[in-house]
Amino acid sequence: MVKICCIGAGYVGGPTMAVIALKCPSVEVAVVDIWDKRIAAWNSEQLPIYEPGLDDVVKQCRGKNLFFSTDVKKHVKEADIVFVSVNTPTKTTGLGAGKAADLTYWESAARMIADVSESSKVVVEKSTVPVKTAEAIEKILTHNGKGIKFQILSNPEFLAEGTAIEDLFKPDRVLIGGRETAEGQKAIKALKDIYAQWVPEDRILTTNLWSAELSKLAANAFLAQRISSVNAMSALCEATGANVTQVSHAIGMDTRIGPKFLNASVGFGGSCFQKDILNLVYICECNGLPEVAEYWKQVVKINEYQKSRFVNRVVASMFNTVSTKKIAILGFAFKKDTGDTRETPAVDVCKGLLIDKAELSIYDPQVTEDQISRELTMRKFDWDHPMHLQPMSSSSTLEKVSMVSDAYAATKGAHGICILTEWDEFKTLDYNKIYENMQKPAFIFDGRHVIDVDKLREIGFIVFSIGKPLDAWLKDMPAVA
Ligand code: NAI
Repeated sequence: MVKICCIGAGYVGGPTMAVIALKCPSVEVAVVDIWDKRIAAWNSEQLPIYEPGLDDVVKQCRGKNLFFSTDVKKHVKEADIVFVSVNTPTKTTGLGAGKAADLTYWESAARMIADVSESSKVVVEKSTVPVKTAEAIEKILTHNGKGIKFQILSNPEFLAEGTAIEDLFKPDRVLIGGRETAEGQKAIKALKDIYAQWVPEDRILTTNLWSAELSKLAANAFLAQRISSVNAMSALCEATGANVTQVSHAIGMDTRIGPKFLNASVGFGGSCFQKDILNLVYICECNGLPEVAEYWKQVVKINEYQKSRFVNRVVASMFNTVSTKKIAILGFAFKKDTGDTRETPAVDVCKGLLIDKAELSIYDPQVTEDQISRELTMRKFDWDHPMHLQPMSSSSTLEKVSMVSDAYAATKGAHGICILTEWDEFKTLDYNKIYENMQKPAFIFDGRHVIDVDKLREIGFIVFSIGKPLDAWLKDMPAVA
């Protein structure tokens, strides 16, 4: 029986391994982590992450060929294939701070693999890493001179949170990069044989190590660039009376452009896009390519602009001040169908409104009060370092924030509503009832194209929806930059 061990039981390690266990009953899969509470949750009825379909997959294999454990060394030692799916955050201090990937967690995992191994292993980079990381990892793996052979593969993960199980069941492609030696090709085949149990062969691509590593950064850069492109257009739409939904539809029908990923919004979030682009920028700079670095940096800059533009719009519309006004925040996760709040635009929007002394009432169906408190008090870039290693800071920021358990409580007595996550339930709220219980004039700022603008205007709301023609009211307010 092939034994797989995955180091890192997070948003990638957990779902990916659960699907491998489900699709390959003859493979034994152990997912290990140093975060004991997370492992305990994987072994409980309440999984540590919310992902549609995940519960069902885990229940089918847990205890049979899928195990979650904190005994990292034991499972690594026994494994034939070791996936490393630890976090690779942005460096917060030192050389490359604010841009370069922090490989501390990866390096310590690699050192541990080298120390405990007693037999040859295939080590798979599942985390997103800078191109050429495999070279450094190889050096670490062989540092102890025990003569054990390690083959390193790059197998970046392309799943999207919220649709992870669907994406893993039917991936657009699986990418495996390895050394172009006989041993490297043998390792590629071993991993390919696992995926081939449910993924059609023509969707399994094999490349050299550096192409696989760089493809992941390139894919995220292209995806984020699309969002920044349509968001940049949304600003121009608001200024000219064009409607960004109509523009997206019109350009998306061009088969060279395609219709997907063209939704304007308050900005992209999530643990990957920003950190991977900053990482790409750093790699370009280190390789003497400042023009290329500058090009990609702009994708992140437009995202920052979009978030601050949204905050400015809220404040400017409400007579240039939100001081002591109650603002309801509907949605805090970085997108629907996930409880993940890493780099969520909601953090920047909430912080921007708090600077202007607003009082926030926040509701999200999948995000806990603790998580929101932590996000609002954390320093930039700290979010991707394991939560259990971070003390929760007490902060005056939270004095003006309340977290509530439904949208009606959040909006009661509010002056304005900001919709920051596209949860389906926000589409079907009783907006008549909400309007009645709000201060007048009642404002609604839709950062996710959730609401029916015309219907809400009929009810009496003053409506702002990203990239859509403005109400007469909003046109009269000071221009926002
Ligand atoms: P995560 O933060 O949810 O999980 C990482 C886990 O690794 C944590 O539970 C942490 O405790 C554990 N860990 C860290 N060092 C360890 C060690 N030495 N031994 C054992 N466990 C250790 O991160 P997530 O979201 O799963 O991402 C992992 C990697 O996958 C990152 O490089 C990310 O860029 C990449 N990725 C993430 C995607 C996503 O949608 N979240 C999609 C594709 C790639």
